[in-house]
Amino acid sequence: MKVDLSNRKLFNEVYIPLLYDDKRYLLIYGGRDSAKSFFAGQKVLIDTMAKPYSRFILVRKVYADIKDSQFQTLRDIIKLYGLGEYFSITENPLKITFKKNGNYIIARGLDKEHKTKSIKDPTGVWYEEMNEIRFQDFIKTTTSLRGGKIQEIGTFNPENETEWINSFFFPDKKSYERDDGNFHYVPSVRSDTTILHTTFRDNYYVTPQSVELLESFRETDDNYYRIYTLGLWGGALEGLVFDDWEVTGTSTSSVTGGEWENADGKLLGYGLDFGYSNDATALVRVSEDGENLYVDEMMYETNLTNQDIADRMSWLGVSRTDDIVADSAEPKSIQELFRMGFNVYPAVKGADSVRNGLDLMKRYKLKVTRRSKNIIRELKNYCWKKDKDGNCLNVPVDKHNHAIDAIRYVLLKKKYLRKKRITRISRLNFN
Ligand SMILES: Nc1ncnc2c1ncn2[C@@H]1O[C@H](COP(=O)(O)OP(=O)(O)O)[C@@H](O)[C@H]1O
Ligand SMILES: [Mg+2]
Repeated sequence: MKVDLSNRKLFNEVYIPLLYDDKRYLLIYGGRDSAKSFFAGQKVLIDTMAKPYSRFILVRKVYADIKDSQFQTLRDIIKLYGLGEYFSITENPLKITFKKNGNYIIARGLDKEHKTKSIKDPTGVWYEEMNEIRFQDFIKTTTSLRGGKIQEIGTFNPENETEWINSFFFPDKKSYERDDGNFHYVPSVRSDTTILHTTFRDNYYVTPQSVELLESFRETDDNYYRIYTLGLWGGALEGLVFDDWEVTGTSTSSVTGGEWENADGKLLGYGLDFGYSNDATALVRVSEDGENLYVDEMMYETNLTNQDIADRMSWLGVSRTDDIVADSAEPKSIQELFRMGFNVYPAVKGADSVRNGLDLMKRYKLKVTRRSKNIIRELKNYCWKKDKDGNCLNVPVDKHNHAIDAIRYVLLKKKYLRKKRITRISRLNFN
């Protein structure tokens, strides 16, 4: 072996007791980048290597998401510790086998017919994003696991306190939550459960960039900061602008030039919203197929220069004749990208452009490709402003709208700009 797995230094200290914990349910929850998934992966691999008999099942709501999350985490750990030669790994189906003892790890999505029931004598399950799993599916899965000692690990962010997971496992949050996020073990209402709360501060390996991003949520969004930075339960959001949309597509893998996930429908164009240090630059591909509007996240990154944007667009296969509709607040950037050979227009602005654009979007059945993680996050958080009595106003809160703005630009362009003519730049800028 290249690495000594009994070396405590390989682990973030706070997780070590869980290596020896044999409770049925181990819930590891909290903020982002707190090493929840990494530790779950370490534990699953150690069981696989050390136990005489071990069969772990990786479970997520959607099978297609497992490959890029849990499965990838396990691969990363195997590689990091130089253990590659001891494992055989297949992708179809997803399976990791430890060659020395034949123990293996497989995957099941709750969207697929092959249920966990059909798996012979499993010993453990790791639910990733456990809060996304429906209560009925969890109960079906957990009751289907019979046999000797079984352990079920759940990792998640505490997105919404009304979720079943909170009432099923947790006591009243007043009894354990601390406002600064600095707390660890939570006494579960179930005697067969251990709950560990962590934040990025518990992860020795967190990058400075992640810390900066997580800290920056403090300024931009309270609810977000509480959930993803401090790992505190988020409240149910009311007044969402988009409450009816759907995730489509099967793959989460990244695109290579020219291969689109939503090849369906007619391309309306690309929406581009400029950001820089705090806000992401978002590029969204928008296409239409009858009553359906397909949106696909192409780019969502901070700190991109115009040159970076151009390079990425070329790489992504955005052609010189495709329409790109960009944030008109940055005419200089638009000019620059235009000179680099892209067909970029400024978006229509004006008093009612937000409202009109959103109305146009709402006329469609909105379909979001599965890999569009940030669009999905924005849709889940983009709300109407409220008056002092809590009634929704006709104006959205100006947050979680980079990708949504990009989509809006494309639809407004379709309405106002029938013919593509870059000479209209100057006119539209003054709208
Ligand atoms: N024990 C560890 N050894 C090396 N790197 C680690 C370890 N724990 C966490 N990391 C690093 O920290 C990053 C964030 O951890 P992750 O498990 O993805 O966080 P979470 O699931 O809590 O969001 C990982 O991508 C990994 O690079
Ligand atoms: Mg994770």
